[in-house]
Amino acid sequence: MTKTVQSERGRKMVTEQEVNKQKEFIQKVKELNNAKNLKYYILTMGCQLNENDSEKLCGMIEEMGYTITEQYQEADLVVFNTCCVRENAEDKLFGKLGELKRVKEQKGTIIAIGGCMMQEKHITDKIHESYPYTDIIFGTHTLYKFPEDLYKTILSKTKMQDVIDIDGEVYEGLPIKRTSNIKASVTIMYGCNNFCTYCIVPYVRGRERSRHPKDILEEVEQLAKQGYKEITLLGQNVNSYLIVEKWKEKGIDYQGINSFATLLRAINKIDGIERIRFVSPHPKDFTDDVISAIAECEKVCKLVHLPLQSGSTNVLKRMNRKYTKEQYLQLVEKMKKQIPNLTLSTDIIVGFAGETEEDFEDTLDVVRKVCFEQVYMFIYSRRVGTPGDKMPDQIPEEIKHKRFDRLKELVESQIESNNQKYVGTIQKVLVEGPSKNNPELLTGRTDSNKVVIFEGTSSLQDKIIELKIVSEHMWYLKGIIET
Ligand code: SAH
Ligand code: SF4
Ligand code: F3S
Repeated sequence: MTKTVQSERGRKMVTEQEVNKQKEFIQKVKELNNAKNLKYYILTMGCQLNENDSEKLCGMIEEMGYTITEQYQEADLVVFNTCCVRENAEDKLFGKLGELKRVKEQKGTIIAIGGCMMQEKHITDKIHESYPYTDIIFGTHTLYKFPEDLYKTILSKTKMQDVIDIDGEVYEGLPIKRTSNIKASVTIMYGCNNFCTYCIVPYVRGRERSRHPKDILEEVEQLAKQGYKEITLLGQNVNSYLIVEKWKEKGIDYQGINSFATLLRAINKIDGIERIRFVSPHPKDFTDDVISAIAECEKVCKLVHLPLQSGSTNVLKRMNRKYTKEQYLQLVEKMKKQIPNLTLSTDIIVGFAGETEEDFEDTLDVVRKVCFEQVYMFIYSRRVGTPGDKMPDQIPEEIKHKRFDRLKELVESQIESNNQKYVGTIQKVLVEGPSKNNPELLTGRTDSNKVVIFEGTSSLQDKIIELKIVSEHMWYLKGIIET
């Protein structure tokens, strides 16, 4: 069992002693691997939180002496960081595991699978049964113990399953290897208490727990020193940051930070950081204080991701979203009034159980009214163990697909007309580097997260520059440097 303490900070933390123990395992694996020039391959299948977890895994793995490879065939260690929010992820994982069988036989590669899907018993059962050559299975709550799991596997050549079903603990102080030099993700809270009826996340990520403001500020200050310009604060429900811990009631307050709004204000003051983003807030928790903080803080981007899921009050009720169509629209109106130049993006699920044609029309209606900058659209996928899976009136696949296509058509036409508003304007763009499709050109992003392609020299990389937008395309804008 993992050792935890009820810390003076008001919630469970992995002890410093336990973190130090993992650091010792990092050294032990490093010694075992000494001068062997070993390689690792990692595949990240999930959301930004999952990506951030992979950055932590990569940090630990590289300190253990492995270097990264893009070819799993040449890897000595293969890690899959899984997601289970929709069904297609399962097919993808099992397909990949099948491919690994030959590599394992030829090379003795260590295969480790972690992440959200490993918190589901029917999945781990299937792995034991059909893919017995898997070496390590670890869950979302035991990620920090990866060095120990790996050490034991290398040493004893036994299979490890390290998944716990209790709420994980917050830990600090293990290495991290970031994928970008200018943009960094910082997880501020873990887990979810909302139990939307379609969603598996609360079951695989446990209850909400927040990181201490001090640890977050120190991480962001460190990132600023290293030259990072953009920070994305991550959590399944960022605007309930610290609320569940009820720190205020306990009289715990760190430099005035006791909510998501106060955290935004504190990060806004950190020199060197130029842009702050966050995903995802929940509409039901979008307080006036958070709205004022976004409006006041010049570094907080004015693109807000506000997951809608459905525009129908009936469906929202069945989804347990705790707001109505009208409340969502009122919130949008209030935000647009108080936050100059606000743009919005959203998530929408099509074809949830019991969704009628009329319900779906309500979703289209909200999309027409709000005119989102970006819409992430999903076809409802039944998840074992969620209330949605047991609801009557499941929608036939072909109807779901037809509705999805109708929504997509509306969204694309809106994006096209929306993009036109950019032409002729001057936009501040954070330059990321050469464009993938045409390395002669540079690519960057506006405050509203639009991709802009333009001609320029590599000295502009990592800088925020002003560009004049000269034309628009469905997924990107073209800009020029005005001299
Ligand atoms: N906590 C975040 C994101 C959760 S997962 C939030 O509440 O916004 C990201 C998105 O996946 C969700 O917003 C939802 O639109 C989608 N999603 C979750 N479960 C799903 C399911 N069973 N089928 C289809 N889409 C789903
Ligand atoms: Fe899932 Fe809802 Fe929690 Fe988001 S808020 S993770 S959709 S249960
Ligand atoms: Fe993210 Fe997928 Fe887990 S969306 S939280 S990786 S189930």
